[in-house]
Amino acid sequence: MTEKLHVDLSGAPQTMLATFYAKALDAGLPDPILGDRFAKEIVDRIDYDWTRTSITAANSPSVTTRSAHFDDWARQFLVLHPKAVVLHLGCGLDSRVFRIDPGSDVEWYDVDYPEVAELRRQLYPERDHYHVISASVTDPAWFGEIPRDRPILMLGEGLTMYLAEQDGVALLRRVVEHAPSGELQFDAFNTLGIKSQWMNPVVRRSGATLYWAIDGPDDVLEAVPGTRLLAWVSAIESDTFTKLPGYYRLMVNVMSRAKVLRYMASYHRYAFGPVNASMTSP
Ligand SMILES: C[S@@+](CC[C@H](N)C(=O)[O-])C[C@H]1O[C@@H](n2cnc3c(N)ncnc32)[C@H](O)[C@@H]1O
Repeated sequence: MTEKLHVDLSGAPQTMLATFYAKALDAGLPDPILGDRFAKEIVDRIDYDWTRTSITAANSPSVTTRSAHFDDWARQFLVLHPKAVVLHLGCGLDSRVFRIDPGSDVEWYDVDYPEVAELRRQLYPERDHYHVISASVTDPAWFGEIPRDRPILMLGEGLTMYLAEQDGVALLRRVVEHAPSGELQFDAFNTLGIKSQWMNPVVRRSGATLYWAIDGPDDVLEAVPGTRLLAWVSAIESDTFTKLPGYYRLMVNVMSRAKVLRYMASYHRYAFGPVNASMTSP
């Protein structure tokens, strides 16, 4: 039997163990939401006390409905732009490139801190047109290797809240200035979500701090010139949320009547570049 990989992470990098474990647990359920067979296979190769993540099969949908949502949006983008570049930022151990399995005309970049990127390299196989970059997403240096002549999809799931606002805005502007057209897809916490981070066990246990609150699309549209809103949905309004049992949806809907609660976690989607670029292939 091969030896398991010992993992010792703290702060923001540690949080990806929780989201990864949620996907592994989900994949073992009779009726999974995401059905990530890669997470299920890989989890057993890691030596970690998974109870430390606070994730159980019961609370795993808080992660998997989000991942399924961004898989859907990413697939939609790639249907329209089969020769795109994908920047999957703060990727953690997420297997999105293998789940989506894009065509060979797509260049896909997974970017995360060096300790996470190194773990990825040890756990996932290489594939053509797939790159892992070891860097902070806020470091402009790695942009030098990203093609400039193709539509870009920037996807950041569970990322923006870990960035300082000025770094996050600079990152979004950098993407928009880098490519002729593309989309920004990411989730965000509003001010209440950031202020109540002490109630978030994944964040608290990792010792990470959340910084950037995005209260609605205006925050992004004003800060990042050239962007157009395509969609803004609260996590509980996502189609993927309908996969949860009715009693659970009812309970969450009742608890989230107030808009500020409903949009504590939300999904943002913006286009940039010529208007027809979001409708046609390159
Ligand atoms: C909550 S996890 C989400 C992981 C993955 N996207 C998922 O949904 O399973 C947050 C991830 O963002 C990464 N991250 C946070 N800030 C980062 C930064 N400045 N540069 C690179 N990665 C960052 C962490 O290392 C971690 O892998």
